[in-house]
Amino acid sequence: MNSSLISEGSHRVAVYYQTQYDPSLAANSPFGFYVTTLPLIGLITHLLLAAFHINFDDVSVHLNDFVPEAPIFVQMWADIAVLQQNGIKVIGMLGGAAPGTYTCLTPDLFDTYYPVLRDYIRRFKLDGLDLDVEQDTPLDDILHLMDQLKHDFGEDFIITFAPVASALEEGANLSGFDYIELENKAGHMISWYNAQFYSGFGNFFPDDLYLAIVNFGKGLDPSRLVATTLTNPADGFGFIDIDEIISSAKNLSEMHHFNFGGVAGWEYFNSLPGADNEPYLWAQQMSDAMHELKANQT
Ligand SMILES: *[C@@H]1O[C@H](CO)[C@@H](O)[C@H](O)[C@H]1NC(C)=O
Ligand SMILES: *[C@@H]1O[C@H](CO)[C@@H](O)[C@H](O)[C@H]1NC(C)=O
Repeated sequence: MNSSLISEGSHRVAVYYQTQYDPSLAANSPFGFYVTTLPLIGLITHLLLAAFHINFDDVSVHLNDFVPEAPIFVQMWADIAVLQQNGIKVIGMLGGAAPGTYTCLTPDLFDTYYPVLRDYIRRFKLDGLDLDVEQDTPLDDILHLMDQLKHDFGEDFIITFAPVASALEEGANLSGFDYIELENKAGHMISWYNAQFYSGFGNFFPDDLYLAIVNFGKGLDPSRLVATTLTNPADGFGFIDIDEIISSAKNLSEMHHFNFGGVAGWEYFNSLPGADNEPYLWAQQMSDAMHELKANQT
């Protein structure tokens, strides 16, 4: 196992925050029912704010359906600033299921589109970007983007990737490039991977695939592998129960010198067991579990 790579940080608790307004609850704001992140203070280490898209037609960047400065997000940004004051790192997720973003970052288009993204990262003080590449993209375009981000925001700027789990052992991938090649060429710039353990691209329970990934090829330090799982069967295919997540995490954390990277949930607003009314309970259970596992670590 390669332990010379970035190994600080383990037992992270992260949530993806894509639904800022929950359509299933009665409106509590002019824009609908606002899903606040404030209950996550003290529970999570990272908030993954999803999803930023680059739009080709009008050279714009959107957070879901609106530009990031839109009135609908004013309260969200205010709350996010409070999270950051409380030590939570806020990472923008770029890309995802809707294609288009990465085709705006080819060498000929980069100087047109990247500055729009860069200015939003600066304006809203994002601590990092989570690159969710779900369209065939040349590896060189990704390396270029990473270089530019580190150049503009410094070494401490967090860059993570969100591949499907199987991509990290050269199985099925949605990105069109080889993640082992990415790791070999630019692993020093990648803080960790938020691997998607669902949608038929692998499971986190039992823990075999996680172990296969950390042992694949030259190996991946487990502190750099966060297991993303679904928080509610309504959010996708491949839901596993929260007890199963904890069981695998426990198994892994108890392995000798195994610095388990942590867990992430897709997505926050309807996380079980609390569902829409108390979505932070997922983070609370995970936080309790991660603290206990870290404390017992040998
Ligand atoms: C995954 O990545 C490789 C590049 O290594 C590519 O050739 C392959 O077609 C990709 N797609 C799938 C579905 O595996
Ligand atoms: C925990 O490890 C044991 C022994 O390797 C294995 O049999 C079991 O399936 C693992 N449990 C999980 C949840 O992965």
